[in-house]
Formats: sequence, C-alpha cells, structure tokens
Amino acid sequence: MADYDLAIRGGTITTASDTFRGDMGVRAGRIVAVADRIEGAARDIDASGLRVMPGGIDSHVHLSQHAFGGPKMADDFLTGTRSAIAGGNTTVLPFALQPRGTSLRASVMDYHKEADGKCFADYGFHLIITDPSPSVLGQELPALVEDGYTSFKVFMTYDDLVLNDRQLLEVFECARGCRALVMVHCEGYDAIRFMTERLERADNTAPYYHAVSRPQIVEREAAHRAISHAELLDVPIMIVHVSGREAMEQIRWAQQRGLKVYGETCPQYIALTADDLKGLNMDESGSKYVCSPPPRDRASWDAIWEGLTQGVFQTFSSDHCPFYFEGPLGKKNPKARTSFRWVPNGIPGVETRMPILWSKGVAEGRITANEFVALTSTNHAKMYGLYPNKGSIGVGFDADLVLWDDNRKETIRQELMHHGTDYTPYEGLAVTGWPVMTILRGKVVAEEGKILGEPGDGAFLKRAISPYATT
Ligand code: URP
Ligand code: ZN
Ligand code: ZN
Repeated sequence: MADYDLAIRGGTITTASDTFRGDMGVRAGRIVAVADRIEGAARDIDASGLRVMPGGIDSHVHLSQHAFGGPKMADDFLTGTRSAIAGGNTTVLPFALQPRGTSLRASVMDYHKEADGKCFADYGFHLIITDPSPSVLGQELPALVEDGYTSFKVFMTYDDLVLNDRQLLEVFECARGCRALVMVHCEGYDAIRFMTERLERADNTAPYYHAVSRPQIVEREAAHRAISHAELLDVPIMIVHVSGREAMEQIRWAQQRGLKVYGETCPQYIALTADDLKGLNMDESGSKYVCSPPPRDRASWDAIWEGLTQGVFQTFSSDHCPFYFEGPLGKKNPKARTSFRWVPNGIPGVETRMPILWSKGVAEGRITANEFVALTSTNHAKMYGLYPNKGSIGVGFDADLVLWDDNRKETIRQELMHHGTDYTPYEGLAVTGWPVMTILRGKVVAEEGKILGEPGDGAFLKRAISPYATT
C-alpha cells in the first residue's frame, strides 16, 4: 500500500512566512509530510516551475442571497463555488441573511438547504443581523455562535438592512459577550438618502451618480461612528470593503490608538474607478460596476496599497455579489433605468480576486508572495476561526492548495469565467499570475480552467471563536 494518497513534488512552497523548494505528502485529505523528497504516493503531481500556496480563502462572498432591495443573485452555491475553485480558492464564507421579522436560526437553516450538496469549495456562514430583537440578541445569536457561526455582519445603510446607532450598540455589546467577530458595512444611511434625492431632483439618474451619491465622506463618517461605538464598548470590529483613503485612515487611526479595529479591502478598489460607472457616454453599461462602497479614483488605489502594505488591512476579499447585466432581473432592468437607486448593488469577483492581487501586487513589486498568501488565505483563516486546519501549508493542515504560475499572462474575459452571471467587470484586464490547479482536501477540483470536482465536494465548516474577537 502507498504511504501517501498524493505527493506534490518539486514546487516552490509559499506560506505567509516562508518560501522553499520541497515535496508534500497528503493522506486522507491532510498534509502529513513536507520534505526534501517524498516517495511512495499513489499519485504524483509534478509542480516544478510552479508555486504551491494555500488555497485561497475568500471570506466575503454573497451567494443565493435575496437582498439589497434587488433581484435574486446570479450565483447560487453551485455556480458561485465553481467560480471560486476555478480562481484558486478552496474555502468561501458567504452570508446567511436574516430578513426582518424572522428568526435568525430559521434563516441559517434556509441557507444550509440552498448550499447542501451543491458546493465545490468548503464553506461556512457569516450571519447578517437585520433585526436585533431581544430574542435574537438574548438567545438565538449566542446559541448560533456556540454552533460555529462565529462572525456576523451589520449594515449602516440600505432600507432593509440598516441598524440605527442604538441597535449597533446593542449588537456590539452582544458580540462582546459571546465573542463573535462583527463585520461592519460603513456608509451613512441618511447622507446617502439625502444625496440620492438631491441627484434625482436634478435628473442625475445614470449609474455614475451612484458613486456621487455615496462619496468617501459618507464612508469615513460611518467608519468613525462604528469605531467610536466599538471603543465605547471595548469590542473588536472588522470594517469591510474599504474603498479609499478616508476610511483607511480612520482604521489606521483606531489601530494606532490600540483599538482592535481590523480592515478588509477588495479588488474593485485597486482595479476600477468611478469613471467606469460612466459606461459608454453615461449609458446603462455603467451599471456593471455599481457596488457599495463604489470604486473611487486612481489616488484611492494608492491609498489602498498604503493600507495593504502597512498592515492596516488584514484581508483582501472579493465581496463577490453577482447580478446579471441583461434580462428582466439584470442590472439594466426597466426600473433600474429610471434611477441608479434601483440598480442592484454588487459585482462578481471571486474568480478574479487572486489574479488581480498577484498581478498588481506581486508582479508589479508592491507586495511579496508571502504577503499575498497572508492577504488571500492565512489571515482569513485566522480572522474567522478556521486556523490551523485552513490557511497554511504544514503537517496537519487540510491539503487545500493552489498551484500557481507566477508568469502566466492572461486577459480576463467573460468566456474564461465559471460564474453564473453574464459579464465580468474586469473584462479586458491583462494580468500576470494565474491558478493552474486547485486541490481541495487532497482532491484535484480544478485544472487549467476545467472543473474536475463535483457539487458536494465542499463541506460545511463549523468555525471556532476568532482570536481577533476577544478583548
Ligand atoms: O455592493 C455591494 N458590495 N454589495 C454587496 C453587499 C455588501 O454590502 O457587501
Ligand atoms: Zn457591505
Ligand atoms: Zn458584501
């Protein structure tokens, strides 16, 4: 009998801390040996000339979610996780959203039903709290944290999701008690409504005005307010999808004061600008780029790089939130044509997250390969209670791996994508660095753009309390 199910030979193994040439032996889905040379495996994969990194963990994706006042998403758990593995990811953390007036537990069960047997990648759920009633905060949320749903998101905007300051304080206090990590969407609801109505009165309704209606000031103010509430109650928070200098500086300021405030940013904030929302001469094609917070400008890209290289941001996630462009439910549906206010917010990106960060980060000399691993995998595992099973390479870790070609040049095109939607906002973007093979717990699930895994390969992950959530 072979000693190992699989040996991966001769690759450049790269973790968040080290880079070295070596072989890896896998048994029963786990890494059981890392050595100079490994013999006696049932299957050998030759990784020479390639880099072997921990599989990507995308800790911010939306799948099968009915939300944001818009139509159903273009990706369910099948197509969304298929796209994830094609892009070098092995774990995703989507959201289970509680519609107002409903039980949090029942919402989680609904999302489980949607996901069960469909996933190509391992997955867990963050909760979204929209209705922090006494029974939710007193019983349901603490019980769900015990059951492995150890993080949740709250919103400071959107009609159906927004929490007021009193409610934010109540959920922060609850999170402190049950040691859940709170993710905060920081944009100020009233300011956005005010700006939106003013723009509509002036007949400025094209998709571009989405970006005008929620400028960086609105994000900065909300970030400062969230940080102040967190400081008041001594509770750690993670500020998600940071778009530019204003919010980044708030997080850095909080960190310099010794507060446990963490930050996440996304590909759209280093690869798109508000000008993309202008489309062709202010037409509806600008709606392809409508997401919140909106992409800013090239100076903001520099600010985001400052945050990435100085450690202000711990995670680089996609915020994959896909809608169709065409069709009655698409981003240019008849109602959305009347005002940017009705364009569903969100863009796809789970498959392009790693190539974009590698290309603009490592290939262009802004970050090291080790920092890339930290930002795309290791820090996500540590932040969200998946470490030490996930997020690195070493004896005992799950054999979740991506074999990466540092020098492969590709141009991102819709034809290459495996997602459910009908466009990519990164169409035509030339990148250097590409995933060649994705391995989930020792099984090759994607190779050269071909999906080799099956729905149901991905397992639900019960997560531990985040070490970052403790005061
Ligand atoms: O526009 C976006 N980002 N939609 C996704 C929802 C969110 O706020 O993360
Ligand atoms: Zn958000
Ligand atoms: Zn999101």
